[in-house]
Amino acid sequence: MIEVENLTKWYGPVCAVDNISFRVEKGMIVGFLGPNGAGKSTTMKILTCYMPATSGRASVAGYDVLSDSMNVRRNIGYMPESVPLYPEMRVRELLMFRAALRDIPRRQRRSAVDRVAERCWLSRPEDMMRRRVGELSRGYRQRVGLAEVLLHNPPVLVLDEPTIGLDPAQIRAMRELIRDLGAEHTVILSSHILAQVEQTCNHLIIIASGRIAAAGAPAELRQRVVGPSRIIAELRGAEEATLVETIRALPGVRDVQPSTSDGWTRLAVGGDQQVDLRTEVSALAAARGWQLRELRREVGSLEDFFVQITYEQNVRWMERMTKSA
Ligand SMILES: Nc1ncnc2c1ncn2[C@@H]1O[C@H](COP(=O)(O)OP(=O)(O)OP(=O)(O)O)[C@@H](O)[C@H]1O
Ligand SMILES: [Mg+2]
Repeated sequence: MIEVENLTKWYGPVCAVDNISFRVEKGMIVGFLGPNGAGKSTTMKILTCYMPATSGRASVAGYDVLSDSMNVRRNIGYMPESVPLYPEMRVRELLMFRAALRDIPRRQRRSAVDRVAERCWLSRPEDMMRRRVGELSRGYRQRVGLAEVLLHNPPVLVLDEPTIGLDPAQIRAMRELIRDLGAEHTVILSSHILAQVEQTCNHLIIIASGRIAAAGAPAELRQRVVGPSRIIAELRGAEEATLVETIRALPGVRDVQPSTSDGWTRLAVGGDQQVDLRTEVSALAAARGWQLRELRREVGSLEDFFVQITYEQNVRWMERMTKSA
């Protein structure tokens, strides 16, 4: 549905998108994830024909964004970072106007507007559709922005930080709505909050400093989490120093951090990724007659992974900048 090949965007001396390529298949909900300034919005602007790329190509629904931009626009619904709305218009009036701009036949406009109002929680309270856009709260303006995007029922939706400015209940509702929309539409959304996209999306593209740092299903990415594994063990029956020394001597152990309170010593044991130290530690405790109160393995979270790769990308980017300076 979406194909991006070697896309690059320079803003004067700033390289915002650096040679990225990816594909989005029909029906996927893709989360574009990255820290501030990563290039998420820039990529979205190129995909939605808002702005041309410096080099590379992109196509949406089979149409090239540069040579066939009218067809791309017909197939895409784009909700930008800050939703542009006419503050003096009333909600229904604005949506009717946009429906006309979208070439929806006059007789179908009312039903199209009612459909999106219902979907985006604008039909209640009763008078919501009659209010002036400029008088709406931020969250409601966000809903109007989303309603507009859905008017012409486009197969592809590009949503730039759709949950920004929403209250927690609305964030959850938005998440559910996006998941629903995923049944009929192909969706790309951006965010820098990993926990939010992890639940909504079936594919994640993590970008940092204009490059793709990692991509895959959330579960797949989690499996690729590199870095040492850790186990937590709470033991009693020997001095803290003895416990630490004995555990440290086990093969595969890299470091042991102890803390002792009410007679129990809590050890955080870092080890090689491949080794599950729980077996060794419990066997050791049994052999030495130590009491074991807790024993669990901590696997790196996707959040750790995200922080780690964006950090690495930033370091590399800084190196490149200093080299070119
Ligand atoms: N119109 C512009 N002119 C010059 N530089 C720009 C312009 N728009 C964006 N940039 C720069 O391009 C880089 C990428 O910006 P972009 O808005 O794509 O990031 P983003 O991933 O959407 O970040 P955020 O999470 O803050 O929205 C940044 O370094 C930004 O300063
Ligand atoms: Mg942005």
